[in-house]
Amino acid sequence: MKKRIAVLPGDGIGKEVVKGAIEVLQAVGERFGHQFHFSYGKIGGSAFDAAGTPLPDETLELCKESDAVMLGAVGGPKWDRQPPHLRPEKGLLKIRKELNLYANLRPTQYYSSLSDTSPLKNEVIEGVDMLMVRELTGGLYFGKPSERTQQNGEDAVVDTLFYQKEEMRRVIKLAFELARSRRAKVTSVDKANVLESSRMWREVAEDIAKQYPDVALEHMLVDNAAMQMIKNPKQFDVVVTENMFGDILSDEASVLTGSLGMLPSASISENGPYLYEPIHGSAPDIQGKNAANPIAMILSAAMMLRLSFGMEEEAEAVENAVNQVLEAGYRTRDIVSFGKKVVTTTEMIEEVKATL
Ligand code: NAI
Ligand code: MG
Repeated sequence: MKKRIAVLPGDGIGKEVVKGAIEVLQAVGERFGHQFHFSYGKIGGSAFDAAGTPLPDETLELCKESDAVMLGAVGGPKWDRQPPHLRPEKGLLKIRKELNLYANLRPTQYYSSLSDTSPLKNEVIEGVDMLMVRELTGGLYFGKPSERTQQNGEDAVVDTLFYQKEEMRRVIKLAFELARSRRAKVTSVDKANVLESSRMWREVAEDIAKQYPDVALEHMLVDNAAMQMIKNPKQFDVVVTENMFGDILSDEASVLTGSLGMLPSASISENGPYLYEPIHGSAPDIQGKNAANPIAMILSAAMMLRLSFGMEEEAEAVENAVNQVLEAGYRTRDIVSFGKKVVTTTEMIEEVKATL
């Protein structure tokens, strides 16, 4: 098969990990006889430096013409003082909105090979298999107004949490669909004791649940969910929640696997193309040190093979290669523990390719 992939490395370690995913995909292409064609686009701070905007029109066009998009990460201290509309993160928010990527799927699973790197007890995390479905194009990250203001002569500020009911419906429905091919349980996370938006979210979830009598629905307040995820993570199957809660809870969930550098994601829309990115950011503290864990990005590429291209066998081959490399004791610094071999980003990529 021939596939066109738009590649947006972005900033910081984004560039370093994207390279890994491309090399692994080339190895997949050779082994399985596929042609992957990569075209590069700019996003984030590096796009601002080159073109004066965090998301140039060419980048957007490139994505729309492609079968799938792979993105590294954006942001960094260099651009932290930019006006809000020129910040690197605005590029990311805009591409999600423009491609209508309404749901971000973030699987978290237990790796027995990493049990010794987790700060949590093995009996708590053993067998964890959770899918977080995060709403991605609404809520606080997009609401207007979002600005500094004045009240009674004092400095004040406003951010707006806005959702259309339909935006809630489509993402919650997707969560129920996905639960059907898993353990048939949906935990809907909200703050319905305080927020009106959450009360509507809960009504929508109840409503959709009627169409899925085979799937169990449970509601959980977000503060409790944050605690339950550490105390008893095995209770979760599919977790569906609004944009900001999902952002926060999925970083927390990465600790169940072992590191932020391990968690992939897929952002999906109604008509494609889908976008694949690790859940981590540009990690300025380790950028340029060849120390980033490329696995989150490599596993994002595996999700792309499965969800965008229907290449299940190829996706499993990548996931198995990652597993074997971890079993063999190769570790980037974020997942290292006593007795394991510390490797650089490039060495980790080489190991995965060689295993493939
Ligand atoms: P971050 O996710 O970049 O890093 C948090 C911590 O995890 C750091 O200590 C980092 O070294 C470590 N880490 C992250 N990915 C890693 C990997 N692959 N291997 C090893 N260690 C890894 O979040 P932070 O530091 O809060 O934000 C840094 C910049 O990234 C900011 O400008 C932020 O806006 C941006 N950001 C971008 C995102 C994106 O592009 N999707 C998501 C989150 C943050
Ligand atoms: Mg995040």
